[in-house]
Amino acid sequence: MSRVVLGVSGGIAAYKACELLRRLQGAGHEVTVVPTAAALEFVGVATWAALSGRPVHTSVFDDVHLVPHVKIGQEIDLVFVAPATADLLARAASGRADDLLTNVLLTAHCPIIFAPAMHTEMWLNAATQANVRTLRSRGAVVVRPDVGRLTGPDAGVGRLPDPAELFAVAVAVLEDPSTAARAAGQDMAGLKVVVSAGGTREHLDPVRFLGNSSSGLMGWALARTAVLRGAEVRLVAANVGLPAPPGTDVDAVSSTADMAQTMAVAAKEADIAIMAAAPADFTPASSSQTKIKKSGDGGLELSLVQTTDILAGLVAARTDPRQILVGFAAETPGAEETLLGLGQAKLARKGCDLLVLNEVGHNLVFGQDDSQITLLTKQGAIGPFSGSKDTLAHQIWDEALSLRARR
Ligand SMILES: Cc1cc2nc3c(=O)[nH]c(=O)nc-3n(C[C@H](O)[C@H](O)[C@H](O)COP(=O)(O)O)c2cc1C
Repeated sequence: MSRVVLGVSGGIAAYKACELLRRLQGAGHEVTVVPTAAALEFVGVATWAALSGRPVHTSVFDDVHLVPHVKIGQEIDLVFVAPATADLLARAASGRADDLLTNVLLTAHCPIIFAPAMHTEMWLNAATQANVRTLRSRGAVVVRPDVGRLTGPDAGVGRLPDPAELFAVAVAVLEDPSTAARAAGQDMAGLKVVVSAGGTREHLDPVRFLGNSSSGLMGWALARTAVLRGAEVRLVAANVGLPAPPGTDVDAVSSTADMAQTMAVAAKEADIAIMAAAPADFTPASSSQTKIKKSGDGGLELSLVQTTDILAGLVAARTDPRQILVGFAAETPGAEETLLGLGQAKLARKGCDLLVLNEVGHNLVFGQDDSQITLLTKQGAIGPFSGSKDTLAHQIWDEALSLRARR
């Protein structure tokens, strides 16, 4: 259980912070809501107090005997400001301390995350951008706003990301506070990365397909964390029923052949390519143009052929010697095999730089929020690591960056 301050400033998206509060509480954290006075114009004290089960104050002059303006900041594990208005970012960047939230920001020893939300003009304004750079330079995580509908009829960049996205960022920072420094330092700025995600479908006929249980959550976590660290991110997504993480470009594909084609093009531009998807290894030798019908009591025999090996194709087509290629191995070792042995054989077979190894099946990994991985390189195995998929994604990027630095 961690102690979290949820700072809320006066933007139209303040209502979305209620959902973030619920998610943090649901994960067992104790959450104190510290709104600004303007935030209470949008969502009132009663809502914050009832949802959090804790007192709610905006001023340093409430409960003065407890010295809350100093004490709260000293005792917490995370401050998450969502939404962070242009005004709040400016006050935080200039070190103002004119309400309880800004006092907490100055006294906190823990990681601080800002999730800005505002009109596009306010976000792109040089003053706001300078404030974001200042806050990052002091170690704060600033989440990139989403693109979409804003207050009124307008649309553009500046929307508060979905609470599920914000929650994933919070979980990773709480599990591993050092990830905050990587996000603040924007250590992937200037890098282009491509990540494949999801499970491919191999059609037998227009309505039936052979598929697998990959949810796409790991690829999504890799994309989200790379955006957070400043990278330009392309997602090649096969059948993932989730909204794309803000700041990513998504290519939707369906079959392994589609994915191979799209990845081959995307990887040409990429500094790092990660195959986190689960492409089918086999596809029907032929697919019917019309729905296959039952005939009598007979069954149906399928003839399958192997699909293209996407990762091996990327390795063979690599022209940039500094490009890092990462594969995933989802294995179910038999009695005579070990997970590590299967991973090492796959690393050698594929010729990629890094292999992320996990044991799947029996409700392990697929569709789960948490996972366990071991990282394999030619130098040996690192791990196992366990945690949320975002925490593990940060570790995968760390290893990919370190391999790239050694090239
Ligand atoms: C309807 C309405 C919506 C607003 N939405 C936002 C917003 O999304 N982001 C923002 O930066 N400011 C927004 N503002 C302006 C802020 O409320 C204003 O700058 C205020 O001073 C912020 O105070 P605070 O940062 O102390 O919470 C909005 C104002 C109104 C009246």
